Amino acid sequence: MESPRRAAAETHIIALPFPAQGHINPMLQFSKRLVSKGLKVTLVTFIDNELTKAKHGSVVVESISNNSEENFKISTMEDYWRNFSSLVRQKLSEIVEKQGESCCPISCLVYDSIMPWALDMARELGVAAASFFTQSCAVSAIYYHVYKGRLNIPTDVDLVSLEGMPPLESCDLPSSACGLEKNCPAMISLMSDQFSNVGEVDWILINTFNELEEEVMNWMASQCPLKLIGPLIPSKYLSKRLELDDSEYGLSLFKPRTNSFMQWLDSKEASSVVYVAFGSLASLEEKQMEDIASGLKLSNYNFLWVVRESEENKLPKNLMNETSEKGLIITWCPQPEVLAHKSVGCFMTHCGWNSTLEALSLGVPMVAMPYWSDQTTNAKFVADVWRVGVRVKVNEEGIVTKEEIEMCIREVMEGESSSILRRNSEKWKMLAQEAVAEGGSSDKNVERFVAEVTCNIT
Ligand code: UDX
Repeated sequence: MESPRRAAAETHIIALPFPAQGHINPMLQFSKRLVSKGLKVTLVTFIDNELTKAKHGSVVVESISNNSEENFKISTMEDYWRNFSSLVRQKLSEIVEKQGESCCPISCLVYDSIMPWALDMARELGVAAASFFTQSCAVSAIYYHVYKGRLNIPTDVDLVSLEGMPPLESCDLPSSACGLEKNCPAMISLMSDQFSNVGEVDWILINTFNELEEEVMNWMASQCPLKLIGPLIPSKYLSKRLELDDSEYGLSLFKPRTNSFMQWLDSKEASSVVYVAFGSLASLEEKQMEDIASGLKLSNYNFLWVVRESEENKLPKNLMNETSEKGLIITWCPQPEVLAHKSVGCFMTHCGWNSTLEALSLGVPMVAMPYWSDQTTNAKFVADVWRVGVRVKVNEEGIVTKEEIEMCIREVMEGESSSILRRNSEKWKMLAQEAVAEGGSSDKNVERFVAEVTCNIT
């Protein structure tokens, strides 16, 4: 009989993230954990730049340049998915053929859950399949209810009661917006369709951990078998023993213009900086950018604000001259590195699931300022369930005013609830580290997945 280690070394996984930063990051971290357990992993990305060509531990990255730009000049979401899925199908078979000739053949496709059609491709290739969810268990459960026809988003009910969750107001449910479009049914279909074939998939993996979402996880597990395998953030921030050769930027789609911000952070006192970032996709209105700038100035704390290049033209023109001592605006940074810096005392975030998990795992309290998608639900949990932050209020014009921003920052930095928010943040940090440490709940789930996927092919 083959030894488990040898069987693992012959087990080859293809990891297929959706090509957006918030989807690539957790898939890359999961790939690294599988490699650390002895598996071979090829991660497929459709972005080809100097950063995707960097070394990523022993994960093999197949960057596929998308020469067929025309395919993606789209008119509708349907067209986008049709073009994208046919490109994936074509490239996957090329990779499988290439890998089969050179080394061990592919045994499993781990694909992003928002691409449920990838299950058919796994079956055509004759390999096992795992659906990989990049959102929280609570958000997944909400979309499951939508899929089952038990809940509508948007809802006309004042308070929604769902198993394993606190009562949710409509503003706590995932938003049905898509970019500037306020109500986009196609977006909700896309998300609820994650469940369209979960009965047939071999594994469901979710980037969260049992302790963080125990009640809703128990309920979800009664509906479909799942494994919680997070938090999938670079392991060097979670455990010294888990050093897995993390390159600084991961598979980054963005690049900072300078690296001077680390020195700037070094020059600041402990817990004195508000770090502000809204992920890789959010696009704020110009008026909102003005209020953020004014709110930061009014609060009078140091701030480090990530404004992606595509958003820079919305910044108030004189901002940097007035705030150069106190504030620094940058186009991108290695976010976990910044959150782990001792001078950072608060994270003003859009509550993307990765940003939320990174803050929780690094013990940084939050000002939650959600925009769309799952962020509204994440913000509810940050403020009212895990109690690691405060959530901003939006005014009638849909803006978070400068006064509100100032008040929320002050509350987290030094207000009445500040010490309890910090205590809770420390607690979740410890629990996150325990979950991924050897023998922790997520580590055991990854071990089980490895054992099962290995066993499947021997
Ligand atoms: C989106 C959704 O918003 C999110 O809720 C969903 O679950 C996944 O896809 P995004 O909006 O980009 O992603 O936010 P987030 O999930 O927070 O992911 C952003 C990633 O970019 C994080 O891992 C963060 O560390 C990284 N980042 C952000 C940087 O490395 N540097 C930066 O300057 C800003």
